[in-house]
Amino acid sequence: MRKKIFLAVETTCDETSVALLEGRKIIRNLVYSQIPLHSAYKGVVPEVASRAHSDKIGALTAKALKGVKKIDGVVFSRGPGLLGSLLVGRMASQTVSGYLGVPLVGVNHLEGHLLACEIEKGEIKDKFRFPLIALIVSGGHSELWLARGYGEYELLGSTRDDAAGEAFDKVAKLMDLGYPGGPEVERLAALPGGEKIVLPVPNVLNSLEFSFSGLKTAVAYFIRDAGKLGKARKIGLARSFQEAVVESLFIKTASALEKYGVKQLAVCGGVSANGFLRKYLKEKLGEKTQLLFPEKKYCMDNAAMIGACGFRRFEKGKFRNEIKVDSDLGIRSWGMGQGRG
Ligand code: KG4
Ligand code: ZN
Repeated sequence: MRKKIFLAVETTCDETSVALLEGRKIIRNLVYSQIPLHSAYKGVVPEVASRAHSDKIGALTAKALKGVKKIDGVVFSRGPGLLGSLLVGRMASQTVSGYLGVPLVGVNHLEGHLLACEIEKGEIKDKFRFPLIALIVSGGHSELWLARGYGEYELLGSTRDDAAGEAFDKVAKLMDLGYPGGPEVERLAALPGGEKIVLPVPNVLNSLEFSFSGLKTAVAYFIRDAGKLGKARKIGLARSFQEAVVESLFIKTASALEKYGVKQLAVCGGVSANGFLRKYLKEKLGEKTQLLFPEKKYCMDNAAMIGACGFRRFEKGKFRNEIKVDSDLGIRSWGMGQGRG
């Protein structure tokens, strides 16, 4: 049977991305990052994001489709994400699918992050051994899911306030570092030396929920009281903050694995690029649990991961126009996700 060729579109936050897949193979994965546009503000400015998406989506789509005679469908990130940004991806996808008369499917961006764990060397592999626990840590979400199969997801816990990536970004801003904050904090924390600074490790008792705003406030108070931050203090603060976030993610993830007797853990989303997080989780959980992380380039938002969602739907024979139906991953409909992806 001929392999299905389909277009995948991602515009939830600050990356405009369009991919072309043929069956399991990622033929193209074009990503235009808006980071330079937002870095002056040290955070994503929604209106700037929507405009940049609409500036780029046409050319990226044309490039992804160059030389392609026929496609079998279009899959796009329906949310959660920034409303204006989502609309751009949705419109572009509807236009292509409407013009070509091929099915259009909207998928959940977070499912995309999860399925990014199965992409290796440009191909979607069968790495998942269900049931598994998914720790999704991005700029907009910190969530633990129990996955029983593709499209069979149960939310176990999310954040009560800030997401892990958001906390990295906000703390980086407080410390006058660049944007996005995660890589900046990680780089600083890895430098030698540094003062020993004690910060609270967030732990919402008797639940699988996260909370990072208290930790962020502790950093803000520390900076206020410290006056000028010297280099040793900055390094110590970055390290201590990173350790507190990672320890907190570890505690809840370990509880989830234990509670559900699960042997596989998939860690994904922008924060999963963090080397310290990867090392720590492997050290603490690696003996009993098989850990999966996306390749670094698939940690951040990209359309290939949305294509992986499309592939699984094709495989299940569920690739048909279904944009009015809520996504498989949770109850959010595309229009309700006002936050970042
Ligand atoms: O998944 P993603 O690309 O976008 C959203 O869907 O939000 O994640 C972006 C987030 C940002 O908050 C960024 O600071 C964080 O991921 N991030 C990191 C690292 N690289 C990116 N956080 C910690 N360490 C990193 N190395
Ligand atoms: Zn994301």
